[in-house]
Amino acid sequence: MLKIDTPKASSWKILVIGGAGYIGSHMVKMLGQLGCRVTTLDDLSSGHRDAVLCGEFIQGNFGDRAILNAVLSRGFDAVMHFASLIQVGESVQSPDKYYRNNVTYTLVLLDAMRQHGVKKFIFSSTAATFGEPQYSPIDEQHPQQPINPYGRTKLMVEQALGDYDRAYEFKSVCLRYFNAAGADPEGQLGERHDPETHLIPLVLQAASGRRRHISVFGRDYETPDGTCIRDYIHIQDLCSAHWLALKSLMNGADSQAYNLGNGNGFSVQGVIDTAEIVTGCKIPIVNGPRRAGDPASLVADSRLAQEKLGWKPQYAELATIIKDAWNWETRLASR
Ligand code: UFG
Repeated sequence: MLKIDTPKASSWKILVIGGAGYIGSHMVKMLGQLGCRVTTLDDLSSGHRDAVLCGEFIQGNFGDRAILNAVLSRGFDAVMHFASLIQVGESVQSPDKYYRNNVTYTLVLLDAMRQHGVKKFIFSSTAATFGEPQYSPIDEQHPQQPINPYGRTKLMVEQALGDYDRAYEFKSVCLRYFNAAGADPEGQLGERHDPETHLIPLVLQAASGRRRHISVFGRDYETPDGTCIRDYIHIQDLCSAHWLALKSLMNGADSQAYNLGNGNGFSVQGVIDTAEIVTGCKIPIVNGPRRAGDPASLVADSRLAQEKLGWKPQYAELATIIKDAWNWETRLASR
């Protein structure tokens, strides 16, 4: 049997693209705590310098080949890539930005990695690559037919990674997030998008008074209470899946895609109700029309990640996810 020598985790050198953003910054912190040598490359177009809590920080755009050459020439064991544009609506209005940033720049990154002999890659993909669910929960075999440019850009990279593996033995793990939420349980990090579009931080801003109300986008869906159902996954569980995916690649595993969620769907109204319990605050609601492109329900089947990576979500309760996000929101609100 082939024996692969794995360097000790503490000696791994990891380049994190987009390490100043919401998910990337939590990952950088976790990698640092696990003893990795971490370098963050982020242009700070949406990230925050003070969110990078450990390792080296380099400000620059990952589509800039000269910067990539300079950074990658230092030698890395693997790259994790979190730097993408993520707003579905914006991707419909300005697809050029999405194809340039999410596809073109990522291909520049992959080619620079190859040139520098770095062939292990963890890619942030999304449930949006599936499009309208044909069945639920959604497993990895579900057809991928994205219904917006954002989802298409992510699927294109997934497909390129498959081809790069076949042609260049470039190994990758694509992690398809459902709804990333929550915040660092130690309270140092959280979600700070501008503009914020995600449900849980918006609901909590309405609870803290930073926002007048939460708009519920549609009450006429074919769901028990008429509002959309999503599968919320704690940022810490998302990061632990990245760590396990990284370990699998470092141990010589093949390329693979995994769906990441808890397998439990919660409605928009259910999130608001739970947030009222967790925060003890009455949350003002305004009912609005449906948001274009929102499927009624998106729930993940993550058994593959559990079976192959040994991933086990530790913060699966919605109340826990909201509690950690609330700790972060109260910190922001008191600034
Ligand atoms: N919602 C509201 N009011 C708001 C914001 C959201 O009712 O002010 C609803 C949405 O309509 C949706 C649910 O809350 O039903 C969750 O919305 P989010 O914007 O928080 O998350 P999405 O499910 O739209 O988006 C997530 C990721 C995207 C990814 C998408 C894939 O955040 O990056 O899943 O479907 F593209």
